[in-house]
Amino acid sequence: MVHKKQLKVAVIGGGSSYTPELVEGLIKRRHELPIKDLYLVDVESGREKLEIVGALAKRMVEKAGADIRIHLTLDRAEAIRDADFVTTQLRVGQLEARGWDERIPLKYNCIGQETTGAGGFAKALRTIPVILDICKEMEELAPNAFLLNFTNPAGIVTQAALKYSKIKTIGLCNLPIGLKMQIAEFYEVDVSKVDIEMIGINHLNWTTRIIVDGEDVSEAFLLKAAGAKGLTMKNISDLEWDGQFLQSLGALPCSYHRYYYMKDAMLAEQLVDLQTEGTRADVVKKVELELFELYKDPSLSIKPPQLEQRGGAYYSEVAVNLMTSIYNNKKDIQTVNVRNNGIIPFLPDDASVEVNSIIDADGAHPIQVTKQVGPEIRGLMQLVKAYEELTVEAAVHGNLKAALQALTIHPLVGNADTAQLILNDIMEQNKPFLPQFQR
Ligand code: G6P
Repeated sequence: MVHKKQLKVAVIGGGSSYTPELVEGLIKRRHELPIKDLYLVDVESGREKLEIVGALAKRMVEKAGADIRIHLTLDRAEAIRDADFVTTQLRVGQLEARGWDERIPLKYNCIGQETTGAGGFAKALRTIPVILDICKEMEELAPNAFLLNFTNPAGIVTQAALKYSKIKTIGLCNLPIGLKMQIAEFYEVDVSKVDIEMIGINHLNWTTRIIVDGEDVSEAFLLKAAGAKGLTMKNISDLEWDGQFLQSLGALPCSYHRYYYMKDAMLAEQLVDLQTEGTRADVVKKVELELFELYKDPSLSIKPPQLEQRGGAYYSEVAVNLMTSIYNNKKDIQTVNVRNNGIIPFLPDDASVEVNSIIDADGAHPIQVTKQVGPEIRGLMQLVKAYEELTVEAAVHGNLKAALQALTIHPLVGNADTAQLILNDIMEQNKPFLPQFQR
């Protein structure tokens, strides 16, 4: 990246309730990351939210005395033109569509989750064409900009962008930083004292090394993690890990692994929740209503702590850390989603993988892992990556055969009849959002 003095950042999905967090992060780091123009862009149906969040962002910047100009727009091209960084945090079909993704699989006794399993599959079909449109627009209007993709399912969406566009794309998730924070809490140290090595793909990564204050505590931490509470994200049930299981695995699974390794218990919980509070989309709708009421208050000029009820809390740390390291050519290590290029030898080179990478002015460069993994990890990772490849193919080309195979092989579906029933429902419910299948 050319070291410019004044940067332009475009946030697509700028009306999101998470935006104040990003603004807070940019304000805090403005001395290292001189952002002049911050464009928050959204679609017509998100106009009201954009205005509310945008007004709060302006108050935050003013209160901090930061020289950042906030622009609110529905014109995506205007936001992208000559940007240095474009971040995507959009949700095609908004929370209503998330509700479908969570409910349809549950009808067939399959896990209903917005990023993994059949729910994540439906979200990928709706989202990938929109992200590829954004990439095309970037190729014309900001070909040197970085695309920092947060949009879920982040690994699959990033894989599509890496495969089908020339834009420098890095996929981001708050899971790695969330885990570091949890470990720091366990050891009562500052998060800067914690280093981890992760291997895997988004929402399916294993932590194989944990260093606290210079000491390798990988094995000791697995003992601590057994039966422990607090090793999860706000959106995922805190079911405890079994000690013997962790020992035999020899690595720490991520929060989302509960859907795979404790599928029956997780499904049972989801079915109970469905009858009481609804799905996570219903819960998030309520949290959002509360947040937007707070955001409207003209006397509010900081990020309210209630935002931490969302599973994506602290995502801005990830985005701001990454932008700062790119801009300052820091060459530090962060865990991000990048093109594999042989780092995980048993996955295709063009797969997106979530691994430690060196961040410099050219972007993210995955580094060799120091611990190889055994067949117990390799097998699940390869299977889910194969599902992801098929999903990208289905989403980009409207390929129904690939769609059916993707769902059938996913370990959270795993049955051709069920896959077909779920696929029919997804196609029916999402028709307006799936033009690629109507051709
Ligand atoms: C986790 C994931 C994010 C996801 C979020 C959902 O933190 O890492 O990818 O977006 O949870 O949180 P929500 O509050 O929307 O359920």
